[in-house]
Formats: sequence, C-alpha cells, structure tokens
Amino acid sequence: MEVLLPLLLACSLLFTIATPIRDITDVCASQISDFQHLNSSGLHLTLHHPQSPCSPAPLPSDLPFSAVVTHDDARIAHLASRLANNHPTSPSSSSLLHGHRKKKAGGVGGSQASSSSVPLTPGASVAVGNYVTRLGLGTPATSYVMVVDTGSSLTWLQCSPCSVSCHRQAGPVFDPRASGTYAAVQCSSSECGELQAATLNPSACSVSNVCIYQASYGDSSYSVGYLSKDTVSFGSGSFPGFYYGCGQDNEGLFGRSAGLIGLAKNKLSLLYQLAPSLGYAFSYCLPTSSAAAGYLSIGSYNPGQYSYTPMASSSLDASLYFVTLSGISVAGAPLAVPPSEYRSLPTIIDSGTVITRLPPNVYTALSRAVAAAMASAAPRAPTYSILDTCFRGSAAGLRVPRVDMAFAGGATLALSPGNVLIDVDDSTTCLAFAPTGGTAIIGNTQQQTFSVVYDVAQSRIGFAAGGCS
Ligand SMILES: *[C@@H]1O[C@H](CO)[C@@H](O)[C@H](O)[C@H]1NC(C)=O
Repeated sequence: MEVLLPLLLACSLLFTIATPIRDITDVCASQISDFQHLNSSGLHLTLHHPQSPCSPAPLPSDLPFSAVVTHDDARIAHLASRLANNHPTSPSSSSLLHGHRKKKAGGVGGSQASSSSVPLTPGASVAVGNYVTRLGLGTPATSYVMVVDTGSSLTWLQCSPCSVSCHRQAGPVFDPRASGTYAAVQCSSSECGELQAATLNPSACSVSNVCIYQASYGDSSYSVGYLSKDTVSFGSGSFPGFYYGCGQDNEGLFGRSAGLIGLAKNKLSLLYQLAPSLGYAFSYCLPTSSAAAGYLSIGSYNPGQYSYTPMASSSLDASLYFVTLSGISVAGAPLAVPPSEYRSLPTIIDSGTVITRLPPNVYTALSRAVAAAMASAAPRAPTYSILDTCFRGSAAGLRVPRVDMAFAGGATLALSPGNVLIDVDDSTTCLAFAPTGGTAIIGNTQQQTFSVVYDVAQSRIGFAAGGCS
C-alpha cells in the first residue's frame, strides 16, 4: 500500500502532463457536475449554460443562433405583456381545463395561438436562454433537471401520468404516487389564491377540488397541472411542504429539462418559500457556453465583494427585478446622450434574456461609439436579425473597447469583450444589445462571469467581477 500510492500518484501526474489538452467531456467529468451543498452560508448549486456540453440536458449543439434570437424576442414580448398588465398568452386550450372553467371566447386554441413565427421544434423552446440546475423532489427524493428563471415565480415540473402531454426529458418523470410526502393542494388554500399574482393567469378547480395552475411563457410555451406540495431537496438540505406545480399538460418544449424553478419575488417562488430557512437572497454566476459550470447560491453571501444598486420598485409588476441604469461609457467616454435617456424606460434584470435591450437613443449612441472604436480593428458585417452592429471575426479575436454599464448607487458592470459582442456564426460577431420601445432588459450575455446577488431582504442588487469563467 505504502509503495503503491506514490507510484499511482506519479503515474497520474505523468498522465496529466502527457495530455495537457483535455477534451470537453473530461472537463465536465472533472467538475462535480451536479454539486449540491448546504452549509451555514446557504445552499450552493451548480449552474449550467443551456448550450454547455456539461449541462445534464444540453440544447442541441447545432441550434442556430437565429433560433436563440427568435426565442429571445418571444421572451421579451412575454415580459412586456406582463408589464403592460395584459394577461400573457393563456393556455386556455389545455384539455386539462375543459369542463373545469368557462372557456374563453375565441374557440379552441384561441388565446394560445400567437402570431409568433417560432417553430415548435423539439429542444428549442422559451428556455433557450435559461440556465439549468438540479432539484430533488419527493420522499424518497429523486433528482430533476430544471431551468432557472428570475422572470417567473411558480416552480413546476412534468408530472406522471402526463394526462395531456409531457415532452421528452432527461431522466424519469416525477411520479407523485411514488412519493410518501406528496399532497395535492385544495382550491380553498391561500396558495391557490396566490396563483393569479404568480402566473398572471387565473387558477381553476378540478372536480375533486384540487387547485389547477396555468403557467405561460409567451412563445406558446406553457404548463398546466395541479398545485402540489412535497419535500424539495438539494443534496443534504431538504425542505418539507414546498408548493409547486405538478404539470399534466406541458407544451412548448423546455429542452430536455423537467421543469422550471421560479426565482422572482412572489410568495410562491422557491426563493420566498426557502427564505425562512436560508434568508431572502440569492446569488449566481452565469458561465459562458464553453465553461463547465457556474453557480447558484440561495441564502447568505459575502457582502464585501459587491458594488450595489437599489432594487427599483415598480407598480408594473411586483415580482420582477427592476434596476435603474444611470450611464454607459465606451473606452472610458460616456455616451453622448442626456442622463434622462437611461431612465426613459423601466429596466429589469433577467437571467433568461440573452440580448440586452436599451432605450432606442441609448442603443444608437452605444452602437455608434462601439463601431467608431472598432473601425480600424474589424471590417463590418451585415446585420444579423435584430443585431445591427456586426463585425467580421469573433469576440475573443478582436480588439473590443471596454464598455461600462453604471447603475444608480454606483454599481458597475465593466464588460469584457465576451459581454459586449456575441458570436453569431464562425466568422461574424455582433454587439449583443438591441433597441426596445417597451421594457429595457439587462440580459444574460452582459451578466456572464460576474457574480450577481439579488438581496431581496435589503432590496439591493450587487455585481462583482470574476465570479466564474
Ligand atoms: C459553503 O460552501 C460553499 C460551496 O462549497 C463555499 O464556497 C463556502 O465557503 C462555504 N461556507 C462556509 C461558511 O463554510
């Protein structure tokens, strides 16, 4: 034994030196790909980029970037409809609801059929931009791949017997009958009453008096099923009595994930429900697509490392995370727009939107400043979909000016080339911003590699560079 051990070490050292370039599967294996750890500073989970080969339910690697942009647009439209207080596309055609409540005028598929041109291709979905983690459910606990969403509150997953529809998912579908701690929630419960605020869709009631939720995400994606209660667990940490949706009709294909974790600010969100045990805050680092993983932590965080901006309150939607953008500079020079332009639209920060949306005048000034700074560095390339400031080359290969996004209170995102430009194909890279007339959104390309904390208890959002790769 005493002789063998150093020998083994020496061998493995040799092996490491002999193969300095490990392929991506080795990188994934060397990570504890589904790290779940509860300690005195809270809950710590692995977070995967939706297209990372290390994700337990990766999107197809050949997914064209145009699909990402199309779905991003659908997400924006959905968030905008939330803020406009229009009900988002309600899945009124779900046959789970037939006989349980009055059907809306408009006939079968009425309000669900949107004019969106998004093709419902397996693997391509509203969750195209959303990061992925794991969650355990039931007793005994089984583990599910879930997308993480700061733009919605209700957590749900596909549920056996999938009485209307389930899409293909990684691993088995949750079976409530196999859990000793599962309970369906009655229509009279206060949590059932909370659904309208959480999903912006009315709840319904089954003939056996079980509360029915309808979660919809624009893009014709939705989940309808029974509001339920069970023990949720992450590694050694388990939390009984967690309210979530047991989805019996799931349409719109969330990659191969089992469902969605809602982290917005509503009583039904996972964040709020775990707050009594962990504290009312979460932080994450969104990794780039080529990195193995980032993290999601719920609970306390190291306050010293962050610069903060107050969470702005908005009467538009109490559950989304609003911030106040105060300025943008390119290579140290502030954009040539009056400061009031930055506040001309309500602004949210969102984990599932890929491309940041800015007020038109701010966007135009940013586009001009970046194009001017890069004029000698790279030839321009044609417009790509909503992205109109494109260059020949790649974000990593070009000299890209530093872009600083400043927020009220002094928090700053000092963007690296990979946060400024996004590669749309092998030879083209574009400014990863677009103009909007509706709601400005700080998207996830700009947040990648930063640690971002959402401290709801203290009503502040913080940024720190160097959170992950
Ligand atoms: C808790 O675990 C996380 C993740 O492993 C680690 O980064 C952190 O330092 C730990 N905190 C304490 C107080 O042990």
